[in-house]
Amino acid sequence: KRACSRIAPFLPPGLCDSTEMTDRETWATRIGFILASVGSAVGLGNIWRFPYQTAEFGGAAFLLVYLVAVLVIGVPAILGEFVIGRRADISAISAFDALDRPGWRIVGALGVFGGFWTLSYYSVVGGWVFRYIGASATGSYLESPGAYFISVSAGPEAVAFHGAFMLVTVGIVAFGIRGGIEKATKVMVPSIVLLLVGLAAYAFTLSGAEAGYQYFLSPDIDLLLSNYQTVVPAAVGQALFSLSLGFAVMITYASYIDDDENLFIDGGVIALTNTFIGITAGLVVFPLLAVQGGGYGEAGPGAIFVSIPTALSEVPFGTAVGFVFFLIVAVAALSSAISLLEVVVSYLVDSYGFERRRTSVLLGGIVFALGVPSATETAWLEWFDAIGVNLLLPLAVLLTVVFVGWVLADDAVEEVRRGADGFDALGPIWLWSIRSIVFLAVLGTVALSVFELTGAPL
Ligand code: PHE
Repeated sequence: KRACSRIAPFLPPGLCDSTEMTDRETWATRIGFILASVGSAVGLGNIWRFPYQTAEFGGAAFLLVYLVAVLVIGVPAILGEFVIGRRADISAISAFDALDRPGWRIVGALGVFGGFWTLSYYSVVGGWVFRYIGASATGSYLESPGAYFISVSAGPEAVAFHGAFMLVTVGIVAFGIRGGIEKATKVMVPSIVLLLVGLAAYAFTLSGAEAGYQYFLSPDIDLLLSNYQTVVPAAVGQALFSLSLGFAVMITYASYIDDDENLFIDGGVIALTNTFIGITAGLVVFPLLAVQGGGYGEAGPGAIFVSIPTALSEVPFGTAVGFVFFLIVAVAALSSAISLLEVVVSYLVDSYGFERRRTSVLLGGIVFALGVPSATETAWLEWFDAIGVNLLLPLAVLLTVVFVGWVLADDAVEEVRRGADGFDALGPIWLWSIRSIVFLAVLGTVALSVFELTGAPL
């Protein structure tokens, strides 16, 4: 059973001294579970990816499709992961054994691998954000933001900041569910909300902000109708990424649930809070982009690192605002990174009896090494991102959806109803939505990504 002890002679000392296999942790409180999940959902996806995707795909029209996608695809899918995790009571890969479907372990394995992969460059971007907190204090990005971004986004310093980001991530995960993740996210998530709402209020006072709101909030339906074939998959992909689906995070987090909670409510609250924070981030970013003269479309991945600093040089209290802004982004990124690392750590801890602290350090080191190319050359980062988010993630979600919808099926309905008195009617509706609209939308996303990545003409 304890595979770790068998290979112990080949491992660093102490790696197999776990007690968690016999004494598995749970969340201390329901709100702890919800905040940790929100912390995972709210991340670079909301503040970095969401605004530039919105800009790239037509502003408010994208926002509209995204909101629908969260509701009809994201929420049912997140419930699917919760059901697997809570019913199995064990981390991602072994969950499929616990559910008596060992053939489906591959689904968990794909998720764990995808998360590991994604964390490697997610942490590089997190490192940039660390760097920008410091740069806000000194104002060093103000003079020429574009050149500054190029100079810090790749190279030895980017590697060092990537290392610092991983170090903090490891530091939290090493302390476990209650003492690490739950404690940290209980402070992190409310701080993000508070500070972000403050910045949105500040952005409201900027002259020239209206153009930003206009762009972000009034949909151009004609544009949407003529571009739906690019807008819709992008919005679905963003909804899946933003809710932390695919990489087994929600399976893992739900496996630490102790009581019978109403999963419908938990899933709804998590999706709602995540969307609220994403929109609030838009209400900060778009007015600032408007102040520096619009150009939303060209913003791209460098948007918040170039356009925002450009705007900061023109607004009152610029560097102080920059400091708070990048602080928020850093906290949001960290609370997501810990969930990605936890998925892999809990797998080794639960299934092989590895000791948590040492395992966190070891895996953190491996993720760090895997991220070095991305920190050295931005083209690598984009490649890792394309594979992770456009391919591994939707593929893992697709397999999860098939598993929940057709393999678990009635068991899944029974599980989702547990602790959800009064919501009985929703169970079958949920299963139906998984088998139809969720399945089709995710299948479409996977197909399009494959076409795009292989360059096949559509
Ligand atoms: N949801 C996170 C974000 O928006 C990213 C993430 C995806 C985290 C998948 C975990 C799993 O930044």
